[in-house]
Order: sequence, then C-alpha cells, then structure tokens
Amino acid sequence: MRLLVLIWGCLVLPGYEALEGPKEISRFEGDTVSLRCTYREELRDHRKYWCRKGGLLFPRCSGTIYAGKEGQETTEGRVSIHDNRQELSLIVTLWNLTLQDAGKYWCGVEKRGPDESLLISLFVFPDVLEGDFHRLGTR
Ligand SMILES: *[C@@H]1O[C@H](CO)[C@@H](O)[C@H](O)[C@H]1NC(C)=O
Repeated sequence: MRLLVLIWGCLVLPGYEALEGPKEISRFEGDTVSLRCTYREELRDHRKYWCRKGGLLFPRCSGTIYAGKEGQETTEGRVSIHDNRQELSLIVTLWNLTLQDAGKYWCGVEKRGPDESLLISLFVFPDVLEGDFHRLGTR
C-alpha cells in the first residue's frame, strides 16, 4: 500500500529527512533539468523510484519509474533515472519539459515500513523567448 505508506511518511517524524534534494525547481518549457536526491548510506541497496504525485484527498504515485539495480540508467518517455550508489544519489533527468510536466513529484526509496520520500515541486514557465505570445494569451 504505497498510498498509506506515503501519507504515513509525510506525517511521521517531521523535520527528519532521510532524503535530501531540491524542494522546488523552476524551469522554462523545453529545458532539460537534472536533479539529485541523496539518501542515507543504509538505503544504498534499496530500490529507488521517481513518480508523480496524484490524487487529491489521497496522495498516490503515478507513472512510477524504478532505478535499475546495476546502476544503469532507465529511461521512460522524457524521464531518465539512475541510482549512483557510490555517491548515495538518485539522479533524475527530465528532458524537454512541457507545461504539463509542472506538478509535484516524489523521489522515493522502498524500505520495510513506510517508504522514504522527498516531495519536489516542479514549476514550468512558458518560453516567451520563442515568441509564442499567441498561446500565452489564450491560457
Ligand atoms: C528532446 O528534444 C530533442 C530536440 O527536439 C530531441 O532530439 C530529443 O530526442 C528529446 N529527448 C527526449 C528524451 O525526448
């Protein structure tokens, strides 16, 4: 039950962070952004994932992408994820951002009991330099 697990993870132990990384990221559409969630050593061999926060009353993961065990990069669509166990870092790359990518995401680490997770807000701004004022006006 990842759903309950995530809720639990958010309520319990406030201020105690097993995962560290950016809380907010702002970019323009079309940009590619790489971010890093670092984790504690004891989580080194645990499975890591990246997902989008969905659900209103009950937060849940959607579009979960798991990092490969051997440290290889996993790519699905415009998201690449890679667990660098030497550096205790989960590295996530979001390619060619679109406005629809804006939202909240989790870096997560599976473990016994509630998963460890870090919530990251992604803001994507229209690229006005592209000269696409037309589309801006209608939004
Ligand atoms: C990002 O956009 C570039 C240029 O349009 C394209 O070559 C590349 O394949 C895209 N990357 C992904 C992961 O979609």
